[in-house]
Amino acid sequence: MTALTLSTSSAATLRADTVVVGVAKDAKGVVLAPGAEAVDKAFDGGLAAVLETLGASGAEGEVTKLPAGSGLKAAVVLAVGLGDAPAGDEEYDPEVLRRAAGAAARALAGTRKAAFALPVGDAGDTAAIAEGALLGAYTFTAYRSGSGDAKTARGGKKAEGNGKAPLAEIAILGGKPRDKAFKAAAERAETLAAEVNRARDLINTPSNDLTPKSFAAQAQAAAKEFGLKAEVLDEKALKKGGYGGLMGVGQGSENPPRLVRIAYTHPKAEKTLALVGKGITYDSGGISLKPAGFNETMKCDMSGAAAVFAAVVAAARLGLRVNVTGWLALAENMPSGNAMRPGDVLTMYNGKTVEVLNTDAEGRLVLADALTRASEERPDAIVDVATLTGAMVMALGNRTFGIMANDDAFRASLHEISEEAGEPSWPMPMPSELRRSMDSPVADLKNVGERAGSGLLAGVFLQEFVGEGITWAHLDIAGPAFHESAPFGYTPKGGTGSAVRTLVRLAEHTADGDLG
Ligand code: BES
Ligand code: MN
Ligand code: ZN
Repeated sequence: MTALTLSTSSAATLRADTVVVGVAKDAKGVVLAPGAEAVDKAFDGGLAAVLETLGASGAEGEVTKLPAGSGLKAAVVLAVGLGDAPAGDEEYDPEVLRRAAGAAARALAGTRKAAFALPVGDAGDTAAIAEGALLGAYTFTAYRSGSGDAKTARGGKKAEGNGKAPLAEIAILGGKPRDKAFKAAAERAETLAAEVNRARDLINTPSNDLTPKSFAAQAQAAAKEFGLKAEVLDEKALKKGGYGGLMGVGQGSENPPRLVRIAYTHPKAEKTLALVGKGITYDSGGISLKPAGFNETMKCDMSGAAAVFAAVVAAARLGLRVNVTGWLALAENMPSGNAMRPGDVLTMYNGKTVEVLNTDAEGRLVLADALTRASEERPDAIVDVATLTGAMVMALGNRTFGIMANDDAFRASLHEISEEAGEPSWPMPMPSELRRSMDSPVADLKNVGERAGSGLLAGVFLQEFVGEGITWAHLDIAGPAFHESAPFGYTPKGGTGSAVRTLVRLAEHTADGDLG
């Protein structure tokens, strides 16, 4: 990954290929953001005017490159837009800094070293810039024949590079490298970004290489590396254990299902958090096959499990004073002569029977088993994460995930926490009258119900499998998990790592005893 350092050097003298400054707009026009002073001096105080002449407006995410001239060590100045300059003595919002740093890092692919001279008031600003830059510098090149990575990913031959390498080195100016708070902020940002990028790599890996089995093996390897406990139930153990949901969904595939338990424990922890992730390594829809065009991105249907996995590893690497248990419900949803059929009845891990009327509503089936299993350990709270419904995408769009919960206060906390983490979310209800439409003529319930409110209905279904009295929330990340349009800020095309930062922030707040 991209290397990160904090530096006290001046932007004028630090050895770097490019120096990044912020440009904003105020009532008078284009203005430089704090941090750009030394660079501006090399332009005799005229950098804002030069930028304006070049067409810069200061709009968020706008990138303008210009030659640095002789007064700077760097050859190039990159000005990144920060939007409206904050009024009076207000500071730039951390998410604005995160996105600007991300946009700059993306534009700097192919560059070796960049110095970021963006506004830094406190350690939180350094963290935001570091996080944004490290996330923005992410690239997924494992399957490009020109990349060295291809060797590890596909056993192929290493060839000469044909794409731009990610920005190799980032120096953040304006912080205090010897100050504990700044050092800790930079280290946390590095860990967090590495784990978000771990989730992105998993999501971007095509389903011919990422199967339930290979995903479980990656969890085991990470557990070994970071001192976690991992247990994997294979198809034999799942069958014997009565995991009807996981077995039913997985039975049509040549790649059998797995349930992974990956646990981080802290000796002084007072709380235990259980995280449950939907891990459908490919969702074809099964016998209720998706039409062409609706399956192109369905390698992303394990994004919930990827987020849970990454968050557990992050909690361990950060040494948080909380226990975090991750449950990865892994299966491939395929049609075949052995696949579950619409009309089949499954007996779930908690003993309830489910009539499967649509095999494409498979996520709730694998999650149901994992939620019941997670409940057996009586954690203080359970959060599941899933690319669960297209309805949630229709409701909230591509950048916002929905939160449902059996506890209003917990739902509100999660909403706040996600916004704090820079991940937009919105609280959604679970209208109890929806339960009736899942009544089945033959089983305890059906896996589908009325079409209206079907994103909420999925949450109502899941609730049936949460242990009595356990605080639970459900994050439907179907919208933000996989980004198909043009990259923006620190969000690349493809897997985004949605929910990782929210889950880590939740673990931190739980460790600090903030959540009651
Ligand atoms: N994995 C899909 C949901 C999805 C849609 C994720 C778009 C990401 C982007 C899920 O398994 C699914 O197919 N849901 C169905 C449920 C329906 C059959 C009740 C849906 O939303 O259409
Ligand atoms: Mn589906
Ligand atoms: Zn699915």
